[in-house]
Amino acid sequence: MFPEIERVLIDQATIAARVHELGERIAADLLADVARTGHDQIVLVPILTGSIVFVADLIRQMPIKLSLGVVAVSSYPGQSIQSKGAALRGEIPRDLGGKHVLIVDDILDSGRTLGLICDLVAEQSPASLRTAVLLRKLLHGPRAVEVAADYAGFDIPDEFVVGYGLDFDGYFRNYPQIAVLRREAP
Ligand code: IMP
Ligand code: MG
Repeated sequence: MFPEIERVLIDQATIAARVHELGERIAADLLADVARTGHDQIVLVPILTGSIVFVADLIRQMPIKLSLGVVAVSSYPGQSIQSKGAALRGEIPRDLGGKHVLIVDDILDSGRTLGLICDLVAEQSPASLRTAVLLRKLLHGPRAVEVAADYAGFDIPDEFVVGYGLDFDGYFRNYPQIAVLRREAP
């Protein structure tokens, strides 16, 4: 079915258990924010396209009242596995002021994507701003943009991964686990 996959790094059951934990914890923290501030609106801002599978599973583990306001960012033109800088595609929701915002992405790598969206959301003065990623790459040096993930599902080595929403050249997003691709013969 997927001959290009070399090995699975994180299997389906492990992802599901961790997403369940994250959802419960994030929901509890957001509810505490609501109680503390009196602002009662919670908005998740998923970054398209990579976060769609993660966010779909995550929100179903969060039994609280929330809405979604998606943003689209592109960073990998074509068959690249190296970020060429993050660019916003289209609009960012403009009504985030005074709301509790959780930005959700698939993976934190160079930090450019999350950094860009955090800055654009922060300009709107949300009541609180947090970030959640399924994966956080452990880099050898500093990230190009130093941005922290408040919630990270798994720390992974600095390898290019696909599956569970993450793509290579647009493909493999539907592979249900996190995997490493076979390297091309030199
Ligand atoms: P950053 O801007 O370098 O932090 O990268 C974040 C974006 O790049 C993510 O939203 C992903 O879409 C993509 N990305 C980073 N690392 C990988 C990877 O290993 N596999 C697939 N996509 C990745
Ligand atoms: Mg992405």
